[in-house]
Amino acid sequence: MKIFRTIRETTAFSESLRGQGLSIGFVPTMGALHEGHLSLVRRAAAENDAVLVSIFVNPIQFNNPNDLEKYPRDLEKDLELLIPAGCTAVFAPEVSEMYPENEVRKHFDFGALETVMEGAFRPGHFNGVGVVVDKLFNITLPHRAYFGEKDYQQLQIIRMLTRNAHPGLEIVPCDISREDDGLARSSRNERLTPGMRKAAPFIYEMLNKAAGMAKDHTAEEISEEIEQAFANHELLKLEYFSIADGDTLQPVHGPVNVGDRAFIAVFAGDVRLIDNIQLR
Ligand code: PAJ
Repeated sequence: MKIFRTIRETTAFSESLRGQGLSIGFVPTMGALHEGHLSLVRRAAAENDAVLVSIFVNPIQFNNPNDLEKYPRDLEKDLELLIPAGCTAVFAPEVSEMYPENEVRKHFDFGALETVMEGAFRPGHFNGVGVVVDKLFNITLPHRAYFGEKDYQQLQIIRMLTRNAHPGLEIVPCDISREDDGLARSSRNERLTPGMRKAAPFIYEMLNKAAGMAKDHTAEEISEEIEQAFANHELLKLEYFSIADGDTLQPVHGPVNVGDRAFIAVFAGDVRLIDNIQLR
């Protein structure tokens, strides 16, 4: 497995793969890799001749400085995990390589997709994601790029970015990987205290409860039930619970339709966890 620290080497490698007629699958990550990331890498390896993985904790997508500072980083361990998963090359740049001083930075407008949920609660977050992923696509020149439904709103944002700026690139959505107790895998889970870790599967329990109600309850009835359950919970603090259209991400009123999803963000102490589920 090759390890690149510069844009120049990475793009040269991708160009040589393309020159040989080989297909490139790309998995962008912020490192602290877990089974969820590795499931994307394995899928990319099964569907492409070569797999590029980027590891870059993107400072401009963090709206909370504490979250950026505490974000777990362990490049050596990440590299060890990537070899058996079928990764061909890793791009792990420094911040100065991705964001040189005095660079004119693009700005993205994702319209109504970014005014709701994560976009509403994390101002600037999706523009930061758009800027880095647009750069990473230009650097790695992939044929296919793999994104987890764990970050479903991000997936929709990337689909819009790709339609506009990278036509021809295929975006491949991947299932959410979960721990045995249902908690969605996340690099941030490492930061949960033992008590919070024990409480956290309640989030997925509530998403399942919402899915169970969806056939014969309105979005408002389901939301009220879930919000009440969190109001009674001693440890977990609900930030939002939202039932929204799976394509437009706009809130659903009244009956729940096929394709609608439930989205949730919860604070477990100072660790912010998100999850979602298809309701019908
Ligand atoms: P990161 O949180 O490291 O996630 C990298 C990719 O792994 C994303 O596509 C995410 O949805 C996917 N992923 C994370 N946990 C998952 C799980 N439990 N099941 C399935 N997929 C999972 O998302 C980012 O990084 C960044 O925003 C990035 C796109 C790299 C831009 O900086």
